[in-house]
Amino acid sequence: MSRGRGVLVTGASRGIGRAVAAAFARQGDRVAVHCSTRQSGALDTLAALHGDGHVLVEGDLTDPARVEALAAEAAGALGGVDVLVNNAAVMVPHPLPTTSYADWQEAWQRTAAVNLFGTVNISYCVARRMIDEGRAGHIVNVGSRGAFRGEPDHPAYGATKAALHAFGQSLAVSLAPHGIVVASVAPGFVATERVADRLASPEGERIAAQSPFGRVAAPEEVASAVLYLASPEAAWSSGAVLDVNGASYLRT
Ligand SMILES: NC(=O)c1ccc[n+]([C@@H]2O[C@H](COP(=O)([O-])OP(=O)(O)OC[C@H]3O[C@@H](n4cnc5c(N)ncnc54)[C@H](OP(=O)(O)O)[C@@H]3O)[C@@H](O)[C@H]2O)c1
Repeated sequence: MSRGRGVLVTGASRGIGRAVAAAFARQGDRVAVHCSTRQSGALDTLAALHGDGHVLVEGDLTDPARVEALAAEAAGALGGVDVLVNNAAVMVPHPLPTTSYADWQEAWQRTAAVNLFGTVNISYCVARRMIDEGRAGHIVNVGSRGAFRGEPDHPAYGATKAALHAFGQSLAVSLAPHGIVVASVAPGFVATERVADRLASPEGERIAAQSPFGRVAAPEEVASAVLYLASPEAAWSSGAVLDVNGASYLRT
């Protein structure tokens, strides 16, 4: 019987990462559940996964040495990583009109360190192994609608997500000769723990009304799109940035 693929999901302590880990496990893959500060959340994710062979890997993605080590740990435990899902990210409020210059710099440094440099470094370490091992694989980035629609209160977040989409497209071209497929999803608002307070506040109704469906996404709906882009059937979607936003923002 096939033991499925080895899948590394960054930021799987809760939210979309947890739903993505669960979706891969349900289809028979083995998952490395990654976390940084919420180990107990990641252990809950791990405990709920269907099947066996899953592992926990930990580390702050802003530390390049830890990134290299955790990529090696995931590969060792899974017998190789076939799929990398770049899901971990931070979103720090810093609207320009009300943010001090010092806080502005800190928000940009922090956001870029995790969302961009952390992601490009783990992508390098995983792709390097895929190339060296002659392993065809998939990288799926979790981007954001905010890259296109703007993020007035979180401009660094919007900019790093746009950079992530562009990074995915560059990798799609450079890694295709090695059989590695790279794509991104760009979700709109998703009901995760991180945004639960906003959704429960009076702002929640306005957020739901952004979509003509009158609701926000469930994390599982983003996971479905990630699962598809990581499937063999999606090879020809390499380079794609797939909108997962309930028609709340239509790009032309
Ligand atoms: N929720 C939405 O409405 C929405 C919309 C569009 C796109 N997205 C994207 O979807 C992804 C997941 O969102 P979410 O709402 O599920 O977020 P979340 O609940 O805040 O989860 C973020 C994950 O990233 C990890 N992380 C944060 N900083 C890290 C660091 N320095 N090193 C390693 N890992 C780090 C966290 O790990 P620990 O918990 O262990 O610290 C956590 O597992 C993100 O890329 C987000 O930008 C979300």
